[in-house]
Amino acid sequence: MQRIDGNAIAESIIKELTAEVGTLTGPKPAVAFIRVGDNPASVSYVRKKEKTAARIGIGSQLHLLPADVSRETLFERIDALNADPEVSGILVQAPLPKHLDETETFNRVAPHKDVDGFNTVNIGKLCQEDDSGFVACTPAGIVELIARSGIETEGKHVVVLGRSQIVGKPAALLMMRKALPGNATVTVCHSRTTNLPEITRQADLLIAAIGRPHFVTADMVKDGAAIIDVGINRVEAADAPRGYRLVGDVDFDALAPKASHMTPVPGGVGPMTVAMLMHNTLRAFKLAHA
Ligand code: GUN
Repeated sequence: MQRIDGNAIAESIIKELTAEVGTLTGPKPAVAFIRVGDNPASVSYVRKKEKTAARIGIGSQLHLLPADVSRETLFERIDALNADPEVSGILVQAPLPKHLDETETFNRVAPHKDVDGFNTVNIGKLCQEDDSGFVACTPAGIVELIARSGIETEGKHVVVLGRSQIVGKPAALLMMRKALPGNATVTVCHSRTTNLPEITRQADLLIAAIGRPHFVTADMVKDGAAIIDVGINRVEAADAPRGYRLVGDVDFDALAPKASHMTPVPGGVGPMTVAMLMHNTLRAFKLAHA
């Protein structure tokens, strides 16, 4: 089994980006993060993104808004960032508090600054295989992992477990694209699928993004399948320094003897999401300054 090292692949992307940013002589790319409230996972994700931006030479701004912020105040902030020529990309960290509509909020971000790829315009472009848009960072990271690990997709059966707007749906669209890595036969399964193990057992490549710790067990996967584990689940663990451990959607140890390739959690897809956000930010900057 080839353990796919997401940290190492993300590092090589970060190196490529750092070299490219280093050649810029005029203005530099910058990303604005908007965090509403203090969801602990969001605090940690945004911090990681800020640190990575700093390493590459991409500027960052952190906009903290209280959990009870009004829609109007949030939208005023997004509008101001949309209009600010020094801001290349804008990311509104999800999840948002319940009183705010996520789709409406993501659509407030100008499409050319939507480095998250959550805007309806960019999702539409993905559907149409129009490469001028931005692809959401986690699915884009999955594609990079697949491409850089030499996993074949052409004519293969890719089973995507999970149908979220952020991961499952765009990952399925990418895998069925008329380009590589793509050209796959794609099945999307989710919490309402009947006979789910029967379907996942047909997968040559399984992308698990269902958000349930160790949901995928050995009996659900055929010998020689490649597995991409997108799950990042916090599981209580009294012996861990922070009181929790991060666990994927896949039982790594149980699948290790069966899989051809597999991503660990942590250290698989997670670091790729951050690397692709930086890639998208540099691209937004270049498009704005072309
Ligand atoms: N929450 C979990 N993943 C993401 C992501 O990729 N982008 C944003 N904005 N929020 C998230």
